[in-house]
Amino acid sequence: MLKILITAVAKNNVIGRSTGEMPWHSKEETQHFKQTTLGFPVIMGRKTIEALGKPLEGRINIVITKNSAIKEKFESLIIYDALKDAYKYCEANNYEKVFIIGGGQIFEKAIAEADEMIISYMDFNAEGDVYFPRIDFLKWNVSSREKRKDFEIVTYIRMK
Ligand SMILES: NC(=O)c1ccc[n+]([C@@H]2O[C@H](COP(=O)([O-])OP(=O)(O)OC[C@H]3O[C@@H](n4cnc5c(N)ncnc54)[C@H](OP(=O)(O)O)[C@@H]3O)[C@@H](O)[C@H]2O)c1
Repeated sequence: MLKILITAVAKNNVIGRSTGEMPWHSKEETQHFKQTTLGFPVIMGRKTIEALGKPLEGRINIVITKNSAIKEKFESLIIYDALKDAYKYCEANNYEKVFIIGGGQIFEKAIAEADEMIISYMDFNAEGDVYFPRIDFLKWNVSSREKRKDFEIVTYIRMK
């Protein structure tokens, strides 16, 4: 099962705000995210589901939290208190891939074990205090680049 990080990153490496809200909205980037992840499980931190406001449709939504009370707030969430248990669930259900969708705390944990990263590099800086973790580019090959209107999508595959 492929573990794929998917994110949108501003020029200054900001991905969000610890208070929850996203610092920008790009319709085209949101569409790319939806098209890519539809039909697959998505794993996110508790702050990210709070920021989204509702589970993502057409995808199994798995939330990592120490506080299972979040389950009462949103319908149809699967809750785990560790990333490894979320992966076990996805493997047991024979998914060919799982997308790790953030935020910063979850990316920080997931990057070491990820097989691929799909990063939308936005062409602006953003105000925020949640960042994508440092990437060791010696460990990753670029497999594709795709230019869109206000961002570029770069797909990385971990070197064997
Ligand atoms: N640009 C992007 O691609 C992108 C993607 C996703 C999110 N975001 C943004 O990122 C921001 C949120 O990121 P964040 O880093 O503050 O929060 P986050 O990663 O979404 O969630 C953090 C929460 O996840 C749980 N958690 C983290 N590590 C855990 C562990 N090892 N075991 C159990 N639970 C764990 C904890 O929940 P409990 O406190 O409930 O235990 C923790 O408070 C928001 O602004 C959001 O909009 C941006």
